[in-house]
Amino acid sequence: MTKRPLIETAVFPVAGRGTRFLPATKASPKEMLPVVDKPLIQYAVEEALAAGARRLVFITGASKRAIEDHFDSDQELENLLKSQGKSELVKQLHSVLPSYATCIYIRQPAPLGLGHAVLCARPAVGNEPFFVHLADDLITADPGCLSQMAEVYSAKRASVIGCEVVPRSETDKYGIVEVEARGTTARIRSIVEKPKPAQAPSNLAVVGRYLLSPAIFDHLERIGKGAGGEIQLTDGIARLLQEEAVYAHRFSGQRFDCGSKLGYLQATVAYALAHPQLGPEFRAHLRRVVSAGGGVSSAAGRRKSLGPTQK
Ligand code: G1P
Repeated sequence: MTKRPLIETAVFPVAGRGTRFLPATKASPKEMLPVVDKPLIQYAVEEALAAGARRLVFITGASKRAIEDHFDSDQELENLLKSQGKSELVKQLHSVLPSYATCIYIRQPAPLGLGHAVLCARPAVGNEPFFVHLADDLITADPGCLSQMAEVYSAKRASVIGCEVVPRSETDKYGIVEVEARGTTARIRSIVEKPKPAQAPSNLAVVGRYLLSPAIFDHLERIGKGAGGEIQLTDGIARLLQEEAVYAHRFSGQRFDCGSKLGYLQATVAYALAHPQLGPEFRAHLRRVVSAGGGVSSAAGRRKSLGPTQK
């Protein structure tokens, strides 16, 4: 008999419109932006599955159908690939989602904030601890960030928040925690959403990984609008830690902020360099581009010097 995982449910709030990537995200979800050959939401799901999650709850909004299509089976495409003898590609399609995983889609009726999105997951989560994963934060780590947090949970049996030290000047981009002790894992004394550097209790920032006790739901139901006029998950956690222990865990690994264009590009370069097939050639290409002072215009210039482009 297979052992029941400690944390069975992962919640993916994917209702945000991704305005920072317009026009790329006008009709397609920001979570479907690919990093090399997989969309961000695929990395998110793989991290949650590796941490033991089996029930995947997506909190969706307008223009997010592509996410449902991505995790659904596509018989027509499979038949086409089979008829072309492309069995390797059929295998890749099957690896998008293992058969033991279940997807649940819940629509967030209005963009009322991250706390509200998590509250929408309540009927699917029930009375068990659960993960929340924000796909914008791509974390490369082994074991994965959620697996590291599940490990902490198995020792402490309390909520765990993934954290990272950030430059002081950036505290107003994150939830910021104040912890009781030094070290990799420490109990949180206070948490505040996006404080200005001068008011921030520390520079230990919440990244998009949470392992939460179901007691959070009652708090999210009661809190009103917070920073930015939204129902903030951070404010719910601030209430939760008055009743229960909540731990900050400084994960080991590297985070890319794929909610920003620069972070997304950095992730793309890092994942391309690490790619088993593409890596070596891409590294050589990057070297050439950088030493030639790179960029699109010089590439176009080089094409010109090579003569007319072939159609
Ligand atoms: C959200 C949370 C914030 C957290 C951040 C991590 O903010 O509200 O507390 O630090 O994710 O990425 P957002 O980036 O959605 O504004």
